[in-house]
Amino acid sequence: MINFPLSEICLESVDSTNNYLKRILKEDEPPFGISVMTKVQTFGRGRLGRSWQSSQGSLCMSIAVKNQYAEGFTLLVALAVYEALKPFCKGKPLLIKWPNDIICENKKLCGILCERASEYTVIGIGINVNDKEFFGEIKDKATSLYLLTSRRFDVKDVFTAVNTSFEKLMTEFDFSFSPKAREEYKNLCANIGKEVKTEKYTGIATDIDERGGLLVKTEEETISLTSGEVAVHGIY
Ligand code: BTN
Repeated sequence: MINFPLSEICLESVDSTNNYLKRILKEDEPPFGISVMTKVQTFGRGRLGRSWQSSQGSLCMSIAVKNQYAEGFTLLVALAVYEALKPFCKGKPLLIKWPNDIICENKKLCGILCERASEYTVIGIGINVNDKEFFGEIKDKATSLYLLTSRRFDVKDVFTAVNTSFEKLMTEFDFSFSPKAREEYKNLCANIGKEVKTEKYTGIATDIDERGGLLVKTEEETISLTSGEVAVHGIY
């Protein structure tokens, strides 16, 4: 299996680009990595069992690659998407909210959902591109490239940029959350130095460990969070 260059597919609409790739992988063992995009998803899924609502202005994409499961991989994906989106933000600083939300001006620009499918990883990426407003639970929490820059973008250009950056970064780091990747991630992580809250703990986020866990210093101890929802003071 040679993952790169990724073979690209554009769909008019689909239930979920992650589900679409998982169906392909059940029937077949593609000899190459695949990246699929759509602007219309009818059953988008988010992290932690949540749904992912997207409007016609957003990019819904998923990438399937054959790789070994590596701890910290989702953080590495966030680095690749961060690099891809930077040029579209016209100097507005982007950060990563642990584990893998890309944020700007304290609002969510992109969410990432990584899932294992036998020997493959399916990486779902939802990017708010031309969205003008948001509704419901994400109303005050989300932003888009359009809202940040007052410019409309071709969703296909963002798709291409993410694929290019993903190929480059995964080739450079060989799919592993290496010390260099960890250092780069830490410098961009919005949680570090801030008060964070989970259902169980409140403390200060101090570091990222080798496995991609978020180290949080509470009054009693330092714990490593490996999954779940973490609210960051002043962000969301
Ligand atoms: C999150 O909860 O922040 C992750 C959201 C991931 C959404 C993307 S959109 C493309 C892909 N298909 C899905 O059903 N989900 C991911």
